[in-house]
Amino acid sequence: MSVALPRHVAIIMDGNGRWAKQHKVAVALGHRQGVETLREIIRTASNMGIQVLSLYAFSTENWRRSPTEVAALMALILEFFRSEIDELDREGVRIRILGDKAGLPPAQRNSVTDAEQRTRSNQGMQLNIALNYGGRGELVRATRALAEKAVNGDISPQAIGEQDLRDHLYTAGQPDVDLLIRTSGELRISNFLLFQSAYAELIFVDMLWPDFSVADFKRCLDTYAARSRRFGGRTE
Ligand code: IPE
Ligand code: IPE
Ligand code: MG
Repeated sequence: MSVALPRHVAIIMDGNGRWAKQHKVAVALGHRQGVETLREIIRTASNMGIQVLSLYAFSTENWRRSPTEVAALMALILEFFRSEIDELDREGVRIRILGDKAGLPPAQRNSVTDAEQRTRSNQGMQLNIALNYGGRGELVRATRALAEKAVNGDISPQAIGEQDLRDHLYTAGQPDVDLLIRTSGELRISNFLLFQSAYAELIFVDMLWPDFSVADFKRCLDTYAARSRRFGGRTE
């Protein structure tokens, strides 16, 4: 299995709301239970030697939810970084936030920025946490940056290539997504890592995120290892 270990695994952690409904508890409790899953998956991925793990925690569209739910999610973000940062740092995990940090409340913004700063020279797994992230917005941001460079004469429009675009994404310097997992049974991408997942293998798991276990994660890696990736070519 290790032969075909994906370099970059991205996960759309979905189903906390339905889990809460099933258990007849408040949605905030579903999200709290989801954080437990996330802790275990981060630890497992780091121990297995996965290079990059990207987790979709809050999309730019998630602001549409009720103020109560948004507040609960924001509180969990603070709690997560406060309780996990020491261990993550010890494990050598390097944290990067994907998304518009400026649009987060000040406490969350400071907490995630501190986590990035503190772990920036770590040499272990790259952990991307997508917060206030949208794939289209990311591409617009990159386009704007390139347009500014062109206007300033720093780059000629004809010379702009894929690499320039990559260099202006939140994931600059990181490999493309090899494996994209979504839990909860929904069959969509929901604006996650659009450019980076162009050739990702997709796995949709019919399980709610709080129920997703380390064994389920390892099964996904096995499924990935058995896939044949052609990238448009032909392998006979
Ligand atoms: C995913 O769980 C977590 C976030 C979007 C933050 P949901 O809250 O979307 O769970 P469902 O889709 O309602 O079950
Ligand atoms: C995607 O899940 C966003 C995160 C997991 C953070 P959603 O639950 O927001 O996506 P939709 O609305 O079902 O597409
Ligand atoms: Mg959902």
